[in-house]
Amino acid sequence: GYDISALLKETGNVTLDVGFVNTASCKSAITYIDGDAGILRYRGYPIDQLAEKSTFLETSYLLIYGELPTKEELEEFTGKIQRHTMLHEDLKDLLAAFPRDAHPMSVLSAAVSALGTFYQDSLSITDKEQIELSTIRLLAKLPTIAAYAFKKSAGQPTLYPDNNLDLVENFLRLTFGYPTEDWTPNPTVTKALDQLFILHADHEQNCSTSTVRLVGSGHAHLFASISAGIHALSGPLHGGANSAVLEMLDTIENDFGGDVDKFVEKVKNKEDGVKLMGFGHRVYKNYDPRAAIVKKAADEVLEALGVEDPKLEMARRLEEIALSDDYFVSRKLYPNVDFYTGIIYKAMGFPAEMFTVLFAIGRLPGWIAQWREMVEDPATKIGRPRQIYIGETERDYPSA
Ligand code: ACO
Repeated sequence: GYDISALLKETGNVTLDVGFVNTASCKSAITYIDGDAGILRYRGYPIDQLAEKSTFLETSYLLIYGELPTKEELEEFTGKIQRHTMLHEDLKDLLAAFPRDAHPMSVLSAAVSALGTFYQDSLSITDKEQIELSTIRLLAKLPTIAAYAFKKSAGQPTLYPDNNLDLVENFLRLTFGYPTEDWTPNPTVTKALDQLFILHADHEQNCSTSTVRLVGSGHAHLFASISAGIHALSGPLHGGANSAVLEMLDTIENDFGGDVDKFVEKVKNKEDGVKLMGFGHRVYKNYDPRAAIVKKAADEVLEALGVEDPKLEMARRLEEIALSDDYFVSRKLYPNVDFYTGIIYKAMGFPAEMFTVLFAIGRLPGWIAQWREMVEDPATKIGRPRQIYIGETERDYPSA
């Protein structure tokens, strides 16, 4: 009902781009996406090569510092992270105060925010050493916080990190281990989780990364910016999609008697705003290259763990139906990275509430790299979009 072009004219050179569909907010040398061709590269390296040959920590280094580390550089980086995995005991008191049924994403964000109160010696946005210290602290402590959030919800005792283990093993032990038992890593699970973290590590200016940049553009410190990014990630249209996929598969099973076609009809008719979760992407108008890797991993992990999950079969059928249906084809809707991840996480033993937390651990190096790139760029300005005002024109306050 509004004449947008007249309003645009009135507001000078303001462009209306709801959802930033066609607006670049920055220049960046970190991640390249060609959504039409289904290409994703970190610092020039194709995602499939990194997923196959790299490790999560090596990829984190690449994203943050721009180049793959030498053996010595990786050892030093790994060692630094291993020395910072413990949480301050008082921070554990904070975690203990949350209700047991708190969503672990809320706990994660609150605890990261609290890191800013415990580590006031690394809040600078200009001092390189402080930025480095907050980087290492975050990379080291986020998995510990995530595992403690899980333990809290399960009512189980927490463990101290074992710094002889690598980052992913340490996280798995803190999550699934008990203080009274020895814990042995399962190489299939460790390798698969490490690979999933690589796939999630960066994705240029998505909702949570843009949040991290926007908060940081006002010169808020790294802990505050990452805490905000975690909240942005929690929504079901973004990182929350991975748990929403499993909820959707549950619904198909329970309310549709497993009839995938019937459910797809509902989606196509846009009944109750139901969407096919784990499908569609703002940038990819082709198969998400990460989804192809995850799909293969789902097969391998379930087989290696001896898990038979009828949900995997249902997801495959859902994909098959959607990819041959004109509704999805004409809109270029393909499975995204999180269509199959939930099935793998479930097979590993994670409850659905933890799925998005796993995404956050994976995305952390990307957020940090993007925040650092921004604060180091002298051309950075505070992010401050404009608007098109459509409210009342001036009117007088009513007299008594
Ligand atoms: N199921 C059914 N229809 C869909 C879906 C879907 N998953 N996604 C988009 N559409 C339809 C829209 O209804 C719209 O149809 P219309 O032209 O008839 O109005 C058309 O496709 C275009 O969709 P938009 O909403 O304009 O696409 P947008 O780029 O704004 O949204 C998004 C992208 C949010 C990812 C969307 O596809 C979605 O909601 N997907 C489901 C949630 C999801 O999986 N999110 C994870 C994204 S990836 C990530 O963050 C890891």
